[in-house]
Parts: sequence; structure tokens; C-alpha cells
Amino acid sequence: MSGKRIIHTPEEIKRIRRAAEVTAGVRDEIARLAHPGMTTFDLDQLAGTLINASGGRSAFKNYHGYPGYICISVNDVVVHGIGRPDQIITEDDIVSIDVGVNIDNAIGDTALTFGFKEPSSDVKRLLEGTRQALMDGIAAARRGAYVRDISAAVEKCARRNKLGVVREYVGHGCGIQLHEPPEVPNYTGFGKGARLEPGMVLCIEPMLNLGTDSVKLDRKDNWTVRTADGSLSAHFEHMILITENEPEVLTWQKTM
Ligand code: MF3
Ligand code: CO
Ligand code: CO
Repeated sequence: MSGKRIIHTPEEIKRIRRAAEVTAGVRDEIARLAHPGMTTFDLDQLAGTLINASGGRSAFKNYHGYPGYICISVNDVVVHGIGRPDQIITEDDIVSIDVGVNIDNAIGDTALTFGFKEPSSDVKRLLEGTRQALMDGIAAARRGAYVRDISAAVEKCARRNKLGVVREYVGHGCGIQLHEPPEVPNYTGFGKGARLEPGMVLCIEPMLNLGTDSVKLDRKDNWTVRTADGSLSAHFEHMILITENEPEVLTWQKTM
């Protein structure tokens, strides 16, 4: 993996901060309004309405042809699930929403996974383990450290919780484009990666499975990613700014 990275200017960071804050607000509002009985298509439409009301527009819609406003990934779907009118959300489901908003030519990108009832011990291990892996990754994101240090922290937490680590999809730089260098994997073994410096904006986003690491792409829609073994999967994503001291979590809001 190359050491390529983007250091944003103070003017860009102002706009990125605002975009991230708006995106986090929309994420929390979608999570609050999501309920069993509605379809994932309903939820996507609702998300589109909330994003437009925020003054921004979806950073995902039409991105490489992506058809939804947000990504809605239920149960064994890892990432990039598309809202469907025939998919009714039930109280037994776990739902991941991933939200991207472009506002004033800056971008926010954040995700979380939630259920509707008291979780079983395995579901709790999956949700809490993935959330903790994100937090451990954030704690490692200090100036002078390397991308590898973030990856190692995420991976260590995943393995401690006996969760599978998805390797095909990774975190990334963000801010002006949705995906900027560097890549931020949730596993190690690629060298040190980029050195972290103030002004870098990173999306850290562990995608962890109750079963094995392996995933498969839906050959019909070419977007939906599922666990190969059918096990449940969770995804949490925050956007952070590298500073002189502790990282600033730009998508920190009510629900996470
Ligand atoms: N939100 C995803 C990420 O965290 C990217 C979604 S791309 C899309 O990087 F095309 F599916 F929207
Ligand atoms: Co995302
Ligand atoms: Co992302």
C-alpha cells in the first residue's frame, strides 16, 4: 500500500467539519425513524428526503452508478445493500445504514448498525465488538503514527471478540472526494502505510462478521456484499481529523 495521503487546508477543513456534522445528524435521524414493518426502500426514500432537507445531496446516489440515497445492509449483508420495496424490516433484523452527504462541495461519510430488540449474546458481541474496534482505531490515529497502527488496533479488537475481518473493503481518506487516499484497512500485513499528519481526514470503518472473514458480491445487482457463510455482519464508520493532539471525531453525535 502506498504512503499517498491528502492534507486538507484550513478552509477545506471548515467545510468538511460542517458536512460531517450534517451527515451525522441525518444518520441519527434515519436511525431514530427506522422501524420494523417498513421496507428498506421506504427507509432509503426517507433518507433521501432528510438529506435534501439538510441542504445537501446524497454523496452515494449515482456514485459509480449506485442507485440508492444511502446504503442499507440487513443481517448477512456486509455493505452496499440497496433499499428494496420487497424487503420488509423485522424486529429480529440488524440494520446497518451508511450515509454520505455532499454539502458546499465537502463530504461526510458515516455508518452504524442497530437492532430493535434485546440482542442475543452473539449479536451483542458483534455490535459491541465492531463499535469498540472503531473506537480503538480512532484512539490509534495520532500524528506521527501510521495507518498500520489504526489497522492493527481494529484487527486486534476484532480477533479478541472472535469476529471475522472483511478484507475486500477498507476505510479511506475523505473530505472533498468521497474516497481519497490513503486506504485504511481493518487488518495488517501491508507495510506501514501513510504517516498521519494534522489536516488528514480519514474514514475508519470496521466491517466485522460473526463467522469467517469471507464475503461474496451479489452477481445480480453487482453491489450487495454478503458474508460467504451467511453469518451476521456489522459496520460502524466515523470520519476523523488528525490534529496535533487527539483525533477529532467529525461525525460524533447523539447515537454514537
Ligand atoms: N459509504 C461507503 C464507504 O464508507 C461507500 C459507499 S459507495 C456507494 O466508503 F456507491 F455505495 F454509495
Ligand atoms: Co460509508
Ligand atoms: Co467510507
